[in-house]
Amino acid sequence: MSQIRTQVGIVGAGPAGLVLSHLLHLQGIDSVVLENRSRQYCEERIRAGVLEWGTVDLLVQMGVGDRLKREGLVHHGIELRFGGRGHRIDFKDLTGRAITVYGQHEVVKDLIKARLDAKGQILFEVDAVSVHDFDTTSPRIRYTKANEAHEIRCDFIAGCDGFHGICRTSVPAGALTVYERIYPFGWLGILAEAAPSSEELIYAYHDRGFALHSMRSPRITRLYLQCSPDEDLALWPDDRIWTELQTRLAGDSDWQLTEGPILQKGVTGMRSFVVEPMQYRRMFLAGDAAHIVPPTGAKGLNLAVADVRVLARALEDFYASGRTDLLDQYSAGCLRRVWRVQRFSWWMTSMLHRHEGNPFDERRQLAELDYVISSRAASQSLAENYVGLPMD
Ligand code: FAD
Ligand code: PHB
Repeated sequence: MSQIRTQVGIVGAGPAGLVLSHLLHLQGIDSVVLENRSRQYCEERIRAGVLEWGTVDLLVQMGVGDRLKREGLVHHGIELRFGGRGHRIDFKDLTGRAITVYGQHEVVKDLIKARLDAKGQILFEVDAVSVHDFDTTSPRIRYTKANEAHEIRCDFIAGCDGFHGICRTSVPAGALTVYERIYPFGWLGILAEAAPSSEELIYAYHDRGFALHSMRSPRITRLYLQCSPDEDLALWPDDRIWTELQTRLAGDSDWQLTEGPILQKGVTGMRSFVVEPMQYRRMFLAGDAAHIVPPTGAKGLNLAVADVRVLARALEDFYASGRTDLLDQYSAGCLRRVWRVQRFSWWMTSMLHRHEGNPFDERRQLAELDYVISSRAASQSLAENYVGLPMD
């Protein structure tokens, strides 16, 4: 079995693992990233699209923000649409901040390039990854590549391997507490070759269910429809998708939803999930490995980046001073933000989705939307959470 030695062994080349690896590199700390998918798969996987101002700032400071600055679409507000009318939430006025629309796969592409340009090690297409001895000062990660067994010896393991990864589930039973809520609906998402029909995102509440108009570029629109969590895509030919989007997003008479060829379709279930603590001895969990938010607040990627920012700082302090105080505070520090973001994502989700069979909820949701658009305090609360709470 071949062996590699590094300081931090990172499982997962999603946003959490890649940002962590690059931040560590900038501080002179060595890491190896293990990823079970191919580079192409990681670079083409369509997921989130909204970056908080703090995420953008961090990526720019890390030196991976050039293309993001050139191609990212800066948005100063969003629209809430209900009762067939649109209401703008003006982020600039309410918070002085903006968000940037730039696909997660573009962030991943930029990060992979930066890591490889800096001679960083990302091992793609590895199999049978397993983590060992993380209750000692010499953790190990085993994996196979092309059917050959390998081992990484390290000081710490970062579990950045997403919700379905192996790090969280390798923690001894009983050491972690799970908090979870599964929603009785999902999102049917499409990517369409069509110019966006609005300059900003539109979150629509409709009695047939929620719809979202988003985008990836001046030529590509990203759209979502509330559906059942196990919706059968075969029942959704393109013309049914467009008819449903036209109905749910219908607005003022002069607004038109531009249609175009559908490039990709998918269904995503929705859950809120947190494990506590986000650490077990020398293994730290970050991003989706530790928590999931429903996508309505556009927070998943941003929360993953916020975690690893805290972890990178704590590791830097450990390697500079030998102290473990910041590492010991990692979980509690992250969880404070995680729970505030969970609250916001749950709130946006419950306000905007159609809940089966309770007319009381429908009236309450309309009152909530009415309050959000008519009270400056309520719009400001939405805006400050949406653009991103300050990083501590
Ligand atoms: P991930 O991006 O999941 O990265 C984990 C990495 O680990 C992956 O590359 C995976 O291949 C790898 N991995 C997993 N297991 C192993 C293993 N055993 N060995 C080695 N590598 C492993 N958020 C939004 O805000 N808006 C959205 O529209 C949105 N859509 C989403 C759609 C889907 C289908 C999913 C799954 C998530 C979506 N999210 C969305 C959430 C957002 O994309 C995530 O929060 C974000 O990707 C978290 O980053 P991460 O690095 O923690 O995890
Ligand atoms: C997206 O563009 O994919 C997107 C935007 C906002 C959300 C979720 C997803 O809340």
